[in-house]
Amino acid sequence: MTQQSTSHVASPLADLSWTPICRLSELLPGSGVCALVGGQQIAVFSVAERLFAVSNFDPFTRANVLSRGLTGSYTVHGQERYKVASPLLKHAFDLETGQCLSHLDVQLTTYAVRTEDGRIFIGDAWTGSAD
Ligand code: FES
Repeated sequence: MTQQSTSHVASPLADLSWTPICRLSELLPGSGVCALVGGQQIAVFSVAERLFAVSNFDPFTRANVLSRGLTGSYTVHGQERYKVASPLLKHAFDLETGQCLSHLDVQLTTYAVRTEDGRIFIGDAWTGSAD
């Protein structure tokens, strides 16, 4: 059976090329891992039983550290959303959109992510970014 989990809705997922990374069981809930896909470092998180993938590059410190950031949630318009805070200067980014919560002109690249047979796959880059 195939289980799908993506951080994007209404997306042409079939058109993406997918790269397998680690197994879902290797990803601790609430924490991230770093995967190298097509020469890009990608931070992958499992938060609240959802998967998110964003660039590992913190545009404020110019360091590849976001996979080691602290995840959490926040509420906007009554809706719960998920975020990661950089371990360096603590800037927080929305895990779904990559938007920096304190600097609206800064956004991480986000990636489509899904699971199949217990394995995590990363899709092509999804949005533009500050890096
Ligand atoms: S650069 Fe960090 S809060 Fe403005």
